[in-house]
Amino acid sequence: ALIIQRRMKNSARWAKAMEIFNEFEKKCETPIERLNLVADAMLDEMNAGLASENGNQLKMLISYVDNLPTGDEHGLFYALDLGGTNFRVLRVQLGGKEGRVLKQESTEVSIPPQLMIGTSEELFDFIAEALAKFVATESEGFHVSPGRHRELGFTFSFPVKQTSIASGSLIRWTKGFSIDDAVGQDVVAQLTKSMEKKGVDMRVGALVNDTIGTLAGGRYANKDVVAAVILGTGTNAAYVERVSAIPKWKGPLPKSEEMVINMEWGNFRSSHLPLTEYDHQLDIESLNVGEQIFEKKISGMYLGDIVRRVLLKMAEEAAFFGDTVPPKLSVPFVLRTPVMSAMHHDTSPDLKIVGSKLKEILGISNTTLRTRKIVVDLCNIVATRGARLSAAGILGILKKIGRDTVNEAQKQNTVIAMDGGLYEHYTEFRECLKSTIKELLGEEVAETILIELANDGSGLGATLLAASHSQYIDVEP
Ligand code: GLC
Repeated sequence: ALIIQRRMKNSARWAKAMEIFNEFEKKCETPIERLNLVADAMLDEMNAGLASENGNQLKMLISYVDNLPTGDEHGLFYALDLGGTNFRVLRVQLGGKEGRVLKQESTEVSIPPQLMIGTSEELFDFIAEALAKFVATESEGFHVSPGRHRELGFTFSFPVKQTSIASGSLIRWTKGFSIDDAVGQDVVAQLTKSMEKKGVDMRVGALVNDTIGTLAGGRYANKDVVAAVILGTGTNAAYVERVSAIPKWKGPLPKSEEMVINMEWGNFRSSHLPLTEYDHQLDIESLNVGEQIFEKKISGMYLGDIVRRVLLKMAEEAAFFGDTVPPKLSVPFVLRTPVMSAMHHDTSPDLKIVGSKLKEILGISNTTLRTRKIVVDLCNIVATRGARLSAAGILGILKKIGRDTVNEAQKQNTVIAMDGGLYEHYTEFRECLKSTIKELLGEEVAETILIELANDGSGLGATLLAASHSQYIDVEP
């Protein structure tokens, strides 16, 4: 009788767990019709953001980049890349048309978590100090052209209202950064102050978002690059717009008649986006409530945490992991997206990796194969939704620039420079994104849309933009 009782209890629990699972799956659905609605809503919001400065969810920020790299850039340039869990410092010796990148060195420093929520001075001092150390290791093969200074391209991957190519104030933080006294301040002024303090003799030649840097670096490698997308800790996109389509631009018409726009698409939201109770809860417990709604469904910072939240509910309400709720399951962000990805890609017949990750990360041991399969399915639901929504965002851009249909005049490829660890390392995500683009555009058009992984292209892009906007007189012949 006891055994029968236990069996009944177990099957009731399983039924409850499946109920939670099925409901989540249903709420995450992204059929093609819905994705088309998302793309159209994105397009509308793009137009609204280009029309006026304030009150729009898509900021459509003007980058002051009206000329992308040509290949002529030369000299020694440094880059700082701040925007995720690590920041990178880079130096590049650019050799112009013939030489291109003659030599390149970089180093990566992880940002102590307390600096992400401390004071602006602490953060910028830390960065300047790392830069000083890096400069001190400058070796042979790097040399400043006579009559010039060392210059720096600063990739700062947060929303910034630019006032020129090399200045701009922070609109707000995203991705888990929260340093109140930096908001509204000129980022370059703060960095310059810290560099002076730390004895770094360098001038910031360009302040760029990572999307802008990636676009510039992408264009340097391939002239068909017209947009850049980041799928990493956060997500965002930039593209080349005609100035005549930017009513809010009050400056002079650049010779190119073009301007690169940083969309800040992470802040996109729409009633067409699938919304679950877990998304809602994640949002209200975040550092930036009500903001970056699109990002919170797509990017690497959040995907793992959505999975964790569903598992937690299943543990609490259906005893999915046994009589007690595993305590670690309640810790925000313990389940990181790389771990989720590892579980999702487990191809061993008994899902060994899932088992060991559950144990190692969440302290859950002795799971059954049936349980581990559900965990994989959850990862799949969350990754699929994110990838398909990203594809819809890309479709929005393609519509905006008229590259979404077969056009006789359009005989050239449309290349999107892509960067970010989520796209680079999460194979299922990447493949789903690509196949969704095919599904949305049809084979014929999809063949002309190429996504090129520009690994760490944003640092190089920043050096190129610093080079092409350099105000120092080049005294070389
Ligand atoms: C966040 C930032 C944005 C950046 C993106 C990718 O969305 O707000 O500026 O481009 O992350 O790093």
